[in-house]
Amino acid sequence: MFKTVIAGIGHYVPKNVFTNNDLTRYMDTSDEWIQERTGIKERRYADRTGETTTTMGVEAAKMAIEKAGISNNDIDFIIFATLSPDYYFPGCGVLLQRAMKMNEVGALDIRNQCSGFVYALSVADQFIKTGTYKNILLVCSEKHSFGLDFSTRGRNVSVIFGDGAAACVLQPTQEEGRGVLSTHLHSDGESAEILAMFNPGTHANHWLEQKVANFDDAEMGEMFMSHQMIDNAQNFPNMDGPTVFKKAVVKFPEVIMEALEKNGYKPSDLNLLIPHQANLRIAQFVQQKLQLKDEQVYNNIERFGNTTAASIPIALSEASELGKIKKGDLVCMAAFGSGFTWGSALMRW
Ligand code: COA
Repeated sequence: MFKTVIAGIGHYVPKNVFTNNDLTRYMDTSDEWIQERTGIKERRYADRTGETTTTMGVEAAKMAIEKAGISNNDIDFIIFATLSPDYYFPGCGVLLQRAMKMNEVGALDIRNQCSGFVYALSVADQFIKTGTYKNILLVCSEKHSFGLDFSTRGRNVSVIFGDGAAACVLQPTQEEGRGVLSTHLHSDGESAEILAMFNPGTHANHWLEQKVANFDDAEMGEMFMSHQMIDNAQNFPNMDGPTVFKKAVVKFPEVIMEALEKNGYKPSDLNLLIPHQANLRIAQFVQQKLQLKDEQVYNNIERFGNTTAASIPIALSEASELGKIKKGDLVCMAAFGSGFTWGSALMRW
């Protein structure tokens, strides 16, 4: 059986830097509040003229493919994770396949929000281990800036998120002591509405709340998205932040320990933990709980905010560029987010 290695990794963030002070132009917030609660100083927002989730993903993918020393034609499967796709459907996988003029290979879209990278890596790992594919392109990209409520009403959500992308090429290896050791995925749908964007959607909650028993012809055309839904800000993400925080600080350490124990390791054996960049306070809590040293944890949320599916691979790509990960290092990646879904992956780099 093969093991999965990251043969090339790259990331792309938009040039446009948006500081906490920039946000005060739109909403009642402050640099002090945002830094104290989240650790975020600034984030990047996509260029309004044509930069999309897919185009950012393409930039990251080009770097990953170049670093792996292969060409676009060598890619035999695409996995694209995002919660902010260019279109409701089709997904970004095929848009990337078209933009990069790739062969007619499979393109899978992953919808696991902040856990997108860990879920995608786990799926890719199954295909690589069994010898099904030899060069999987895994892309994670988010363009949150187009879909946030920038009024004071949406400030608890909007200040957290940023745009960016990362990609990696996954290959099989039989080299001793390298590759993905295990992945661990979980979910708890009881909390689905705690962090969610409800519209557009097919749930009909809006209409049930209006007590509309029989939809007339006009409403038929408005069920998916109506003017009233927009007026009520139902097209923006909703979050019960304190509930997310409380659950995250329990599930992060739990799923990291699950990966370590499965492979006979303890926290002190880790060379690097890359937690999903949800909130610096959550990452610090996890570090403290596992008694990890500063050099064992990589965070970059101060500069990029929470880039959801892209946050772990952007951090992984940066850490690798900075020489913070060497061949053979024990690296753990862990995520928690909307769903709730959470998971971890342990690998020897
Ligand atoms: N600027 C200023 N004030 C803000 C604000 C902002 N951006 N956002 C919320 N507030 C206000 C609230 O209106 C509330 O005011 P009130 O006390 O007058 O009602 C007050 O701050 C406290 O709100 P609360 O939501 O309880 O704050 P909090 O301390 O829990 O911090 C989060 C909010 C979102 C930073 C925090 O809950 C969090 O980080 N949760 C986890 C979120 C997360 O990680 N999401 C991604 C998951 S992958």
